Amino acid sequence: MMAEVIEKNKAGHEGGTALSFITGAPVASVETNLMRAHAYAALFCLIIAALFGTAIAIKLVQPEFLSGHVETTWGSMRANHTQGILFGWLGNAFIAFLYFAVPRLAGRPVMSRALGWLLFALWNAGVVLLGWTLVTINLPDTFWAIKPLEWTEFPLAVNLVTELCLGLMAWQFIPPLARKPNDDGMYVSSWYIIGGLTFTLFAFPVGSLVPQLVPGAIGAAFSGLWIHDSIGLFVTPFALAIAFYVIPVRTKLPIYSHFLSMLGFWLLFFVYPLNGIHHYVYSSIPMDTQRAAIAASIIMGFDVILVVFNLLMSLRRQGALVSRDIPLRFVWTGVVMYLVVSLQGSLQAIMPMQRYIHFTDWVIGHSHLAMLGFATFVTLGGIAHIWERSLGSRYHRGYMNLAYWLILSGLMIMLVDLTVAGLVQGQLWNSGAPWMDSVRISHGYWLVRAASAAPILAGFALFIAGMFTGISNRNTSGSQPLPNTGAQLPQTNHG
Ligand code: HEM
Repeated sequence: MMAEVIEKNKAGHEGGTALSFITGAPVASVETNLMRAHAYAALFCLIIAALFGTAIAIKLVQPEFLSGHVETTWGSMRANHTQGILFGWLGNAFIAFLYFAVPRLAGRPVMSRALGWLLFALWNAGVVLLGWTLVTINLPDTFWAIKPLEWTEFPLAVNLVTELCLGLMAWQFIPPLARKPNDDGMYVSSWYIIGGLTFTLFAFPVGSLVPQLVPGAIGAAFSGLWIHDSIGLFVTPFALAIAFYVIPVRTKLPIYSHFLSMLGFWLLFFVYPLNGIHHYVYSSIPMDTQRAAIAASIIMGFDVILVVFNLLMSLRRQGALVSRDIPLRFVWTGVVMYLVVSLQGSLQAIMPMQRYIHFTDWVIGHSHLAMLGFATFVTLGGIAHIWERSLGSRYHRGYMNLAYWLILSGLMIMLVDLTVAGLVQGQLWNSGAPWMDSVRISHGYWLVRAASAAPILAGFALFIAGMFTGISNRNTSGSQPLPNTGAQLPQTNHG
């Protein structure tokens, strides 16, 4: 009996039952219209947020650019860049993926279509658009003003709506997955989805509200938690849920090790919340707290090695497929970048490294490697996958392929440029040279970073073009969407 239970819970892994719950079983109705709406919103926000990034990159080399208006100051556009990426792009894209994956993983529909549209409206109007607008006009009232807190710069008023939305997301997606796990057991993607939704619900107010109530070093400690938890407990679990979903479905092979899947999952949620204070090494926060965060950051590196080993072993002998299957290639690239950025993170958390690179452009390179290299590549792979497999969607392989190479080359230029810039800046600051020397020498590097926006933006535009042109999925499948419901008929090979 016990052996049977373990065997069942290994579903989708080597030695367990097949992935039939994703790839073969009939799907409970899928809210295709909600999935599409969130995917469109995600890509729209990606372009706008990346344009904010491009504008501030240009401002660093040409400070007069868009100057003279309070709405286009560097600080407010930077906040709109990062918050737009987090909530507008990744938030919407994750929700789109959940509408596709949860009914397949759970074997039952999400809780409510009406709730879905409410969430869509609140997330996009009440979080993203309201946030961008309030940051741009920056009202004097504390409740409506931009917050000086990294990764949660949107005003408190917007944070309230965000927390409400996180609650609605949890209600929409957790009960179908958790009420009674799928007959084949709970697959690792479901674990990550439930973990991400639950932890974010609690971590977001810790970083957004608590620092307002307890200012100073204590507030900074709480803010540090969210700086890292936004990546570790929101972005990473959903990106990993996508990777663990897309890889076995596209290779038609199980995941290498159930033990590593579970170990990776639990270590992530135990260790990530302890990492946050590594953003404040050498600060007035108690030294033991800083050291604990550094130790947790190193353990985190080992966890990522386990997770990536498990994913890459699941792809062994699949090199040819990875190179020709574009969604899989996006995901594979993101997984490799996850390893690189995490090992880099563990290294840069230690004190001798912090002394050198803190406040330099090395850190900005690291952030782009995480959010663009890891999270965005995996998520674009996830969006390409659901698009290619949704009835009525168009998919242009050539555009998607070109998009991949453009985004990758832009990212590589940006990464090498910012990493070298960071090392040069760190060396100058340590040498005691005048501050302005480091500013002057940065100019060339900032110019290259601004130029790297061109291939990245072109890649994003081509990816979107690839979703509107090319072969329509309707032609290749006999099934049709149900009239006026947005739901999808059960099909085979629908994973
Ligand atoms: C279109 C190309 C892009 C350009 C030119 C660009 C430029 C910039 C600039 C100038 C900053 C501020 C750096 C500073 O504080 O000195 C920044 C910050 C940031 N950007 Fe981008 N960005 C781009 C695309 C993206 C994308 C697509 C993502 C994520 C998917 C992203 C994620 C971030 C993050 C996470 C930060 C915060 C860095 C930190 O505080 O450590 N950027 N970006």
